[in-house]
Amino acid sequence: MTNPVIETILSRTATKYYDKTATLSDEQIRELVQIGTTAPTSFHLQNWRFIAVRTAEAKARLRALAWDQPAVTDAAVTFIVIGKLADASTIPARLAPVVEAGIMPAHMVPDWEINARRLYDNQPQQDRDEAVRTATFGAAAIIYTARSLGWGSTPMIGFDAEPVHREFGLAGDEIPVMLLTVGLERAGNWKQKPRRPVEEVLELV
Ligand SMILES: Cc1cc2nc3c(=O)[nH]c(=O)nc-3n(C[C@H](O)[C@H](O)[C@H](O)COP(=O)(O)O)c2cc1C
Repeated sequence: MTNPVIETILSRTATKYYDKTATLSDEQIRELVQIGTTAPTSFHLQNWRFIAVRTAEAKARLRALAWDQPAVTDAAVTFIVIGKLADASTIPARLAPVVEAGIMPAHMVPDWEINARRLYDNQPQQDRDEAVRTATFGAAAIIYTARSLGWGSTPMIGFDAEPVHREFGLAGDEIPVMLLTVGLERAGNWKQKPRRPVEEVLELV
C-alpha cells in the first residue's frame, strides 16, 4: 500500500538537529497553521491556539523554560500548541459560519450545543481531555504538512508548563499542550525507529 500521503507519514521522524540558518516566513507559518486547523475537533469547537515563537529573543526565552533543549532555538519556529478547555457555550459562534456556508441547517445548532453541554458542563476532566485532544490533532496535521514540504518537526513535552503559561501570556482556560519545533533538518538525525509489531497493538473484534 503506497501513495504520496502514505510516503509522507512513513518517512517522518523526530528532528533533533536543525539547520540553524534556515527560516520560515510569517506567511509560511501562517499557511502551516491554516492547513493544520483543518484537523477535526469535537463539535467543531476549534479550541486551539498556536503561538509561533520565531524571533531569536523569544526562542531563547522559551528554550530556558524547555529544559534548555537546543532544538527550540535551532528550529525555524517553535510552536506553543495550546488547547483551550472545552466550552459548549462557544458552539453557536463556532457553527455560525458553517450554517452561513449552507453546510449545516441552523436548526441543528441547539442540539449540538445540548450534546456538548452534556459532555463538558461542570466536567473539568473532560474539558481538559478535549483541550489536549484538539491540540494534538492540530499538531499532528502540522507535523505531516511540514514533512510533505520537506521540513522536519518534533513534538515536545520537555518544558515547564506553568512558567510557559505565565511568560507567554496564556489565558486561564488555555493549556500549553506541547511545543512543536519545525524547520529544515540537517545531517545527523536518527533514522526512523522500529515500531512494536502491529499484533501487539491491534485488536480485531
Ligand atoms: C508527546 C511527545 C513528547 C515528546 N517530547 C520530546 C521532547 O521534549 N524532546 C525531544 O527531543 N523529543 C520529544 N519527543 C519525540 C519522541 O522522542 C519521538 O517522537 C519518539 O522517540 C519516536 O521517534 P520518531 O518520532 O522519530 O518516530 C516527543 C514526542 C511526543 C509524541
